[in-house]
Amino acid sequence: MILVTGASGYIGSHTCVELLNAGRQIVGLDNLCNSSLDAVESVKKLTGKEFPFYVADLLDEESLERVFSENEIDSVIHFAGLKAVGESVAKPVWYYKNNISGTVNLLEAMQRHGVKRMVFSSSATVYGAPDEVPIREDAPTRTTNPYGSTKLYIEGILRDLCVADPEFSVALLRYFNPIGAHKSGLLGENPNGIPNNLMPRLCQAVKGQMKELTVFGTDYPTVDGTGVRDYIHVCDLARGHLHALKKIEKDFGIFVYNLGTGKGYSVFELINTFSRVNKVEVPYVICPRRPGDVASVFADPSKAKTELDWEAELGLDDMCADSWNFIKDK
Ligand code: NAD
Ligand code: UFG
Repeated sequence: MILVTGASGYIGSHTCVELLNAGRQIVGLDNLCNSSLDAVESVKKLTGKEFPFYVADLLDEESLERVFSENEIDSVIHFAGLKAVGESVAKPVWYYKNNISGTVNLLEAMQRHGVKRMVFSSSATVYGAPDEVPIREDAPTRTTNPYGSTKLYIEGILRDLCVADPEFSVALLRYFNPIGAHKSGLLGENPNGIPNNLMPRLCQAVKGQMKELTVFGTDYPTVDGTGVRDYIHVCDLARGHLHALKKIEKDFGIFVYNLGTGKGYSVFELINTFSRVNKVEVPYVICPRRPGDVASVFADPSKAKTELDWEAELGLDDMCADSWNFIKDK
């Protein structure tokens, strides 16, 4: 059985669907600080399958112990964590406690129960401002904010664990920019409060919940001056977890993979594609660069293709159509 932490979150819920559709047995855990039980119900509805779900916090060791005692867990896919860059700058201690102490508690419970496999949600943020693009997994790592530091520290903890215990196996998945939603419109990203990321902000601008989208900088050395990113459909990303799981079920050690499409799109390219595909106007205004942003970030995803037999299949049109289909009536 696979324990999925952060199972009701954006990427976790889509991955639960993939796992259940592949015939895997799962148990979900989430403290619902950034998600709701609706996502769990949607996963059950979409797959026609039941699974145990615990409203539990990784910081609560007793609850964790209960999850491990009551289920035959053999692998963990670890999504649970806080992910807002700006909030992490304002509340660094909280981010270190939640993300790092939460992971350490989880690893202790795994050790008590002899569970030695983990797929971990890392991020392209560990590359900081990259020296070159496309980014390979062996590029230097550096962080520019506390959120990114939590990812890099956890990667380090997992590396040390794999050295200490040669029977441990870990896949560190460095996600690029996940957008899109499940085709059904039942699962997607609906962040609380004012979102930071481009796609949810673009959707709010189209819906009139925000006056206009702010385009942060048109003076980058890119195709049209706006920032370039590697947007990846959340369903492709979710599928990548199944491939990573198969890898660590077969081989011991630590493995690092970029999960991206390998294609970079600018802010204007995303706006234009969204407009065309969904037949809507995207009101926007050009603003100065956002502090901390870099010009161009996109993956070299060839290692995941060679070693995991995984590659992204869905393009920007699907990402824009599915994001809008999920959010337009919310
Ligand atoms: P999300 O916020 O939708 O999901 C994370 C889930 O973890 C939430 O449901 C939240 O309630 C839960 N959670 C947080 N702290 C917890 C705790 N202490 N105990 C139990 N549950 C807890 O975010 P997401 O976009 O699905 O991201 C999943 C993972 O992928 C995160 O680790 C995130 O850092 C990482 N990641 C996300 C992105 C992105 O752009 N979405 C990019 C790179 C990496
Ligand atoms: N952007 C705008 N206007 C907005 C929001 C964003 O022009 O309102 C631009 C940004 O300048 C950037 C691009 O859109 O060029 C993408 O910005 P996002 O905030 O959506 O994504 P980032 O690449 O800045 O950051 C994301 C996650 C981080 C993660 C990083 C690397 O938010 O958590 O990808 O994986 F670390």
